[in-house]
Amino acid sequence: MSDRGLIVLVGMMGAGKTTVGRALAARLGLDFVDTDDLVSVSAGCSIRELFERHGEAHFRRVEASVLEETLSAITAGVVGCGGGIVTVDPNRRLLKDARATVVWLRATPAALAGRVGGDTDRPLLDGDAMERLTALSAERGAWYAEVADVVVDVDDRPVDQIVDEILEAGS
Ligand code: S3P
Repeated sequence: MSDRGLIVLVGMMGAGKTTVGRALAARLGLDFVDTDDLVSVSAGCSIRELFERHGEAHFRRVEASVLEETLSAITAGVVGCGGGIVTVDPNRRLLKDARATVVWLRATPAALAGRVGGDTDRPLLDGDAMERLTALSAERGAWYAEVADVVVDVDDRPVDQIVDEILEAGS
């Protein structure tokens, strides 16, 4: 990460963006921010409540403005993005144009389901989580690839090894 102090993590729900992001930020002595946390603060409620009260389209609008503000305000740090951020065209443009290294934490649906399958915080996983994760992964794969400078496969790998690979890829 020689000339780029800003690292943005993208990938599906359960890929480990928060865990890896925190470890990466600690390693670099930088701050970690998560767009979901910023959305919750801005909305004054949880992501699930926001979806239930106002719907996904509203959530996406708040998320897009949080992304834009974050990328313009932060020049050094690690940003974890909600998994669906790449579904919005202008967000992909922002990510591609940002002075940042965008890292796709790529995982198989089975690995994702193992981590977040029973989770109740994520409204898009209501019902059959494995089915939802498989469908969303197929739908979004090309978008993650489009914005990513670096792709790291994360299935069955310790966090430290993933952090090492990200740092090596960017140096
Ligand atoms: C979503 C991912 C979630 C959160 C929301 C929608 C998605 O974030 O933004 O539930 O569309 O993939 P994480 O990827 O941090 O779980």
